[in-house]
Amino acid sequence: MKMQQDLDKLKKTNKIFIKTFGCQMNEYDSNRIYDSVKKIGFEKTEKYEDANCYLLNTCHIRDKAKEKVYSEIGRVKKIFRSKKKPLVIIAGCVAQAENQEMLKREPYIDLVIGPQAYHKINDTILNYTKKKKKIEETEFDAVSKFKYLSKLKNEAGKVSSFLTIQEGCDKFCHFCVVPYTRGPEYSRPFKQILDEAKYLADNGAREIVLLGQNVNAYDNQGYRLSDLILNIEKLSEIKRVRYTTSHPKDMTEDLIEVYKTSEKLMPLVHLPVQSGSNKILKLMNRKHTIEEYLSTFDKLKEINSNIEFSSDFIIGYPGEEDQDFKDTTRLIERIKFINSYSFIFSPRPGTVAENLDLIEKKISFERLEKIQTILFENQIQMNKSLNGKVIDVLVENLTDDKSKAFGRSEYMTSVIFNGKKKDIGKIVQVKIKDSNRNTLFGEIIANSDKKVA
Ligand code: SAM
Ligand code: SF4
Ligand code: F3S
Repeated sequence: MKMQQDLDKLKKTNKIFIKTFGCQMNEYDSNRIYDSVKKIGFEKTEKYEDANCYLLNTCHIRDKAKEKVYSEIGRVKKIFRSKKKPLVIIAGCVAQAENQEMLKREPYIDLVIGPQAYHKINDTILNYTKKKKKIEETEFDAVSKFKYLSKLKNEAGKVSSFLTIQEGCDKFCHFCVVPYTRGPEYSRPFKQILDEAKYLADNGAREIVLLGQNVNAYDNQGYRLSDLILNIEKLSEIKRVRYTTSHPKDMTEDLIEVYKTSEKLMPLVHLPVQSGSNKILKLMNRKHTIEEYLSTFDKLKEINSNIEFSSDFIIGYPGEEDQDFKDTTRLIERIKFINSYSFIFSPRPGTVAENLDLIEKKISFERLEKIQTILFENQIQMNKSLNGKVIDVLVENLTDDKSKAFGRSEYMTSVIFNGKKKDIGKIVQVKIKDSNRNTLFGEIIANSDKKVA
């Protein structure tokens, strides 16, 4: 009875605003948090100033992550100076890493909740509204989390929808915080994922992006990522399937073979390599060699020469010498990655590489600039090569000013063209007229909605 009264009270005016940092998995989580707190009367708002619950879904991957959160809290304090203080919740990977320290350091924070404890978010909020007791929930309990989330409808309702299939990491690369912030590798039950995919498809999703910190390590009672791809693409509403982020060591034969049989798997493979030098890969504890990486590349190209690669690079890892950097540039020239992320190594607390001797900052910056010049040039050339060609575009939305439509090519490149609202969710054919590094511009010539890949 008392619980019902609390709920009714909450339902009157509650609005939650979530600010999301970091990877796609955080974006998926933020959507699922919205799905969860809806049950206790919180409505999603895009206007932070309207919110009476402000949740920061944080990322810990690179430098100053913690400080960014505290400065964001400073901003929130200012926004709400002349208003009633909102309920402030810190979620995500910084919450996991810092746990109760955050409550001690910043009294403006009310609750701290780690990524594997989101099944407790409703109870935590209700408990706080009753007892005003600040708590942190940072237990790793992926099983309970997904059991709970699978009972809630995924209401993301987007043409391209994320679907987390795997969480956590057992690989312990020496530079990376993920095994500490997301916990051990866990693969969601096969059927649970298929049910969620079906619900997404029934509610407007036309592309499913399967997510995991090590998505291709997915293994649930013998079902692998390849099985998921082949089963999800049986859903007639789904036109495209993607997966990210994969680890080179887990590019197993069954996954490579899927590129022969799948009809809807997109021909872009995001396969982070980090460095082109075997010496550095070993120092990073990456558990594979460049030769193995190239063998995967060759096998995939043999299956379909239209397959392209994208990657992540860490520049200036401790021990990186000129020759190692040259090996990285050589690899980029060989593979011609069409889109990549590159960052200077950032020492992370609690990792093996935390206290290693850093290479000179100036050298790291010079190398980053060089590598980005090559990577960006590849991107520009790839886009230019499409000038005058007709490509398939999955239409995701209208542009902000509603004058054009926005979609993506098979290679994930943004495409802006003269589409209409009625095209959203369809595959259309667009003739490319112009491009810059990140975007293609064109004109619609037909609505194909045909088989892709
Ligand atoms: N599991 C994926 C893999 O094995 O490649 C990567 C997931 S991680 C969330 C995303 C990217 O962040 C990594 O590929 C790496 O390039 C980058 N990253 C992770 N730790 C880093 C660090 N300490 N400094 C710089 N970049 C880092
Ligand atoms: Fe981090 Fe390495 Fe795990 Fe990727 S495989 S999440 S880089 S520890
Ligand atoms: Fe960041 Fe955590 Fe993703 S550290 S990159 S939000 S797994």
